[in-house]
Amino acid sequence: MATACEVVQPSPGLFLDTRRREEPFLWDISNSPELLDLRTCILSGLSQTAKAIPSLLLWDEQGLRNFNEWADSPHYYLKSKEMEIFETWRDQMANALPHRSALVELGCGNLHKTSIILSALARQGKQVWYYALDVSKSALRQSLQFLHEEFMYCPNVRIAGLIGTYDDCVDWVAHNTSTLHGLPATFLWVGNSMPNLSKTEASDLMNNFRRACGVAGISCRFLVSADACADESRLLKAYDPEAGTSRTFLRHGLHRAKTLLGTDSFEEEVWNCTVEYDRKENEILAFYSPRVDVILAVDLTVHKGDKIFFFRSGKWNESQMETIAHQAGGFQVSHVWRDSNEEYGFYLLSS
Ligand SMILES: C[S@@+](CC[C@H](N)C(=O)[O-])C[C@H]1O[C@@H](n2cnc3c(N)ncnc32)[C@H](O)[C@@H]1O
Repeated sequence: MATACEVVQPSPGLFLDTRRREEPFLWDISNSPELLDLRTCILSGLSQTAKAIPSLLLWDEQGLRNFNEWADSPHYYLKSKEMEIFETWRDQMANALPHRSALVELGCGNLHKTSIILSALARQGKQVWYYALDVSKSALRQSLQFLHEEFMYCPNVRIAGLIGTYDDCVDWVAHNTSTLHGLPATFLWVGNSMPNLSKTEASDLMNNFRRACGVAGISCRFLVSADACADESRLLKAYDPEAGTSRTFLRHGLHRAKTLLGTDSFEEEVWNCTVEYDRKENEILAFYSPRVDVILAVDLTVHKGDKIFFFRSGKWNESQMETIAHQAGGFQVSHVWRDSNEEYGFYLLSS
């Protein structure tokens, strides 16, 4: 098999040894209630006045498969924009990263894009400890195996997986100082995943990573991507809850809730799924809503027409990204790489 490293001229003082494993190392760092007890989190979210269920319901192995099919569909314009940026600017992005560093990818998904940036780093002779974080162990194992094989003989790149949530990763960074080797850390957060959080949640999480890096005594930067499309009709077509692959992706939470709660109350035909564009916040919001009263427990009824929030996709422009970064403890946008229509950006955020 051709490897990503054939053209690398190894630089002096390589820090990675050449002993290679057949399989990538997977580290289970999960500790958060959302991952360990999703069922209780669903019931608690449904008991609130503003009802919500965890978006983690969407992201098991089947959910990630659904997402990848949607991402490859013609209406989902985000993936091709990201690929355009990666293919045009990968060397400049790699240039902006330190010579020796830890690269921690938050919500890594199928890792197809990761290989582009790792190859660019390897071609520049940069040394990188790459950690892929995601919540589904089986999906992570599969996608990491491909990446592992691609970079197996690449002396500059070492690869491992972390199973857990973003919050679990914050704890891991703070408490595993020796694993990170005192190297500067870059958190790679692509696929418009950061705007799946609200702006405040995103700032808070970045701030938590910044503090965790402080505890570990290492520097901290982010390379994140965000879609800034404000064309409502294109957005509503891309996130259509009634058609094709977006429908399958968005409705997957109902199947998981049905399995986890062991009740027929989450049958497909009982629930509507709707999507709204919030112009003020520049975000797509998705809700489930029952067509009849649904009794989940003696003291828990979801009434016909109640809206249950379960998914967000923010559409953030540069000035919004600047504000979010600033509120995360003083990060600044130090580089931006855009697509040709200037609708999609990759931002390097440094403090
Ligand atoms: C929009 S997809 C992007 C996937 C990939 N980065 C890409 O660009 O194709 C979001 C990813 O984040 C993961 N994810 C969602 N919530 C998460 C959480 N709280 N902690 C860790 N990963 C999460 C999902 O499993 C999924 O792989």
